[in-house]
Amino acid sequence: MNKTTSLEGFERQPLISAENLTVDIAAGKTNIVRIVDNISFNIGVGERVALVGESGSGKSLTARALMRLDKMARLSGRVDFDGTDLLSLSEREMSRKRGSSIAMVFQDPMSFLNPLMTIGDQVAETLRLRGVGKAEARKRALAVLDELGVDRAAERLNSYPHEFSGGMRQRVVLAMALVGEPKLLIADEPTTALDVRVQDQVLDLLDDVSTRRGLAVLFITHDLGVVAGFAERVMVMYSGRIIEDGDVSDVFAEPQHPYSQGLIKAVPRIDQELSTLFAIPGAPPLPSARPDGCPFHPRCDQRFDRCYKELPQLHVHNNHGAACHLVDGKRG
Ligand SMILES: Nc1ncnc2c1ncn2[C@@H]1O[C@H](COP(=O)(O)OP(=O)(O)O)[C@@H](O)[C@H]1O
Ligand SMILES: [Mg+2]
Repeated sequence: MNKTTSLEGFERQPLISAENLTVDIAAGKTNIVRIVDNISFNIGVGERVALVGESGSGKSLTARALMRLDKMARLSGRVDFDGTDLLSLSEREMSRKRGSSIAMVFQDPMSFLNPLMTIGDQVAETLRLRGVGKAEARKRALAVLDELGVDRAAERLNSYPHEFSGGMRQRVVLAMALVGEPKLLIADEPTTALDVRVQDQVLDLLDDVSTRRGLAVLFITHDLGVVAGFAERVMVMYSGRIIEDGDVSDVFAEPQHPYSQGLIKAVPRIDQELSTLFAIPGAPPLPSARPDGCPFHPRCDQRFDRCYKELPQLHVHNNHGAACHLVDGKRG
């Protein structure tokens, strides 16, 4: 795969690059299930990348692996961040990277917030844990809440999470993630629980912050509809593998993998009758029961002999890659 990604003619500096990242999880006493299977990708400095796929495809575990959040998961491969392999750091070194290099926001802000702590204290906490003094931490918490459009931020430092609306809570969680000035923000379905109007506001906010700070964002969603306006690049995940990776405009205009084609066809359009909505037939395989060959072949309307036997690899050409035997062009 190419080391850098191009955007409007210039090459971005790579910020994070995963090479052959694999996540295995113990299921029961003896079984080990491979949830994320040997994926490689790069995210450039300040780049906005979407990771898309149906529920259960391994998106969250991929993100959590980059931050080494799951103690039970067995990780292999490499994750280079700014020249360091995160997978080889001690737990202590890794904990210093969390928040200051990579930070993450999740779908459900309420489960992440402490109902008994003021907003101000929660946003400042990341800094306090790093030895920043109380007054300074509070000042920076205020600045970041301001930056994220929380009005009357100074007053609201003393509020509690239940006094905030859903959209405002998502801003607070974002503030907690951003106060440590990370270079990469991972946003795992941050808008899924919100109504459409608030969803758009959060996306606009992420867009602003990313541009202003030169912050790279890995935006995770099952909803391809939200990708086009926000991300520059999209990676499509299926059954623990990245099966397509390219600039958003290329992938939307010319999706190469039949799965991506199906996802795009399934995005509802405003002018569309409900009865004509398309859905990819069938369901993804369980990680413990992947079929031989291409994991998508049982659902694929373009499959042929080779798809039953051989796992397709991701081939990148002109910054656009797909793991599909059709794209190889070598049938049989
Ligand atoms: N802690 C865990 N133990 C065992 N299996 C898990 C665990 N977390 C996730 N899985 C399984 O891994 C697969 C991928 O999960 P996940 O990364 O959460 O998918 P996504 O975020 O794309 O919906 C699912 O089949 C899920 O059931
Ligand atoms: Mg998930």
